[in-house]
Amino acid sequence: MTIDQPLTLLGGLTPQAFMRDYWQRKPLLIRQAIPGFKPSLSISDIRQLVKREEVESRLIWHDAKGWNMKSGPFARLPSAKQANWTLLAQSVDLHDDATAGLVHQFRFISDARLDDAMISIATDGGGVGPHFDSYDVFLLQAHGQRRWRISQQADLTLEAGLPLKILKDFKAEEEFVLEPGDMLYLPPHAAHDGVAQGDCMTISIGFRAPTQAVLACGMLEAANDQIMANLGDTGGLYALPVIPGPALASTFKDPGTPATDSPAALPQTLIDATLKAVQKIKFDEALAERFLGQWLTEPPANAYFEPGDDDTDLSNGLPANGRLALDRCTRLMYRNRQLFINGEVACMPATTALRKLADTRALDGGDPLARKLKPEERQMLNEWLQEGWLHYIAR
Ligand code: SIN
Ligand code: CO
Repeated sequence: MTIDQPLTLLGGLTPQAFMRDYWQRKPLLIRQAIPGFKPSLSISDIRQLVKREEVESRLIWHDAKGWNMKSGPFARLPSAKQANWTLLAQSVDLHDDATAGLVHQFRFISDARLDDAMISIATDGGGVGPHFDSYDVFLLQAHGQRRWRISQQADLTLEAGLPLKILKDFKAEEEFVLEPGDMLYLPPHAAHDGVAQGDCMTISIGFRAPTQAVLACGMLEAANDQIMANLGDTGGLYALPVIPGPALASTFKDPGTPATDSPAALPQTLIDATLKAVQKIKFDEALAERFLGQWLTEPPANAYFEPGDDDTDLSNGLPANGRLALDRCTRLMYRNRQLFINGEVACMPATTALRKLADTRALDGGDPLARKLKPEERQMLNEWLQEGWLHYIAR
């Protein structure tokens, strides 16, 4: 993808211009972002999908008593003829290649920020009510029409005691009816309310952003793992290359401590020793890299990899007429020479070929980089093929 070329997907803006002027800042309505868009899954496919245990879903409806919500899986759903309900299927990109492909059109934004594609189906009048989300979202109209009302209002007070987030005082500032292929980008905290006009399907390409608390706790956990690994207590970390860290093996010593007449009081010497020990931990880039690389590539609990057949063997090279493609659920990221895949630190450094595989999610046999793959790299790719993290496509 060229980030300085205008994209129809962004209404003729370049990814660079979109990121500079709209991302995290203001809404953007894009008419015919995907001209002639046809969803890969039909309304009845989504009704089938939410029967599956591994698919997270919610049914939302509004009646005389107010807002209602029920979580899936659903053996039975309201009739398609009944008005005013919405069914939301989360992370459909984990279950459908074409939906994963759609999400990949947004890879002018880092994989670190990409979350999932949620697909909603609704009958006439269906919606989830006026609310705001904490994350950026692209709302792509996939089937039928939806009337969106949006507002950049500062008052984001929610109604109390409801099963879902509903704004107390939503005051629409703009209103649009979206047709298939139209798309609305909303930054975090933009108030919105989308109501289906007849049968409707909307695909939300959502992004994630960690809180500082999540980042700090992740770093602390990585520091904990580092200390244990350096002590030789490999625990679950046996496969991980150890990041050299402080030697914290020496035991607390207190020769010359005076006798105490208050044995239940915490000794100051232990307070001092604790603070001194913790100051030895370096919260540096190597540690942040390790934490983020593993955490951001950790597949969601409902991601499923089909183990590959044993027939493909790259030991003699990647055939020129073949192609490697990452599985839709695989998360592969790199930083400097470190490569992370599906929550693990890869055993090979991030060479140019492996970075290309990560950035484009594929590697062509005809690519000169593919011919430069070393035997150890090919061995690693063989293992990924067997895990089902990677697929070989013959042409
Ligand atoms: C929907 O697709 O109905 C809801 C999407 C949203 O408002 O975030
Ligand atoms: Co929303």
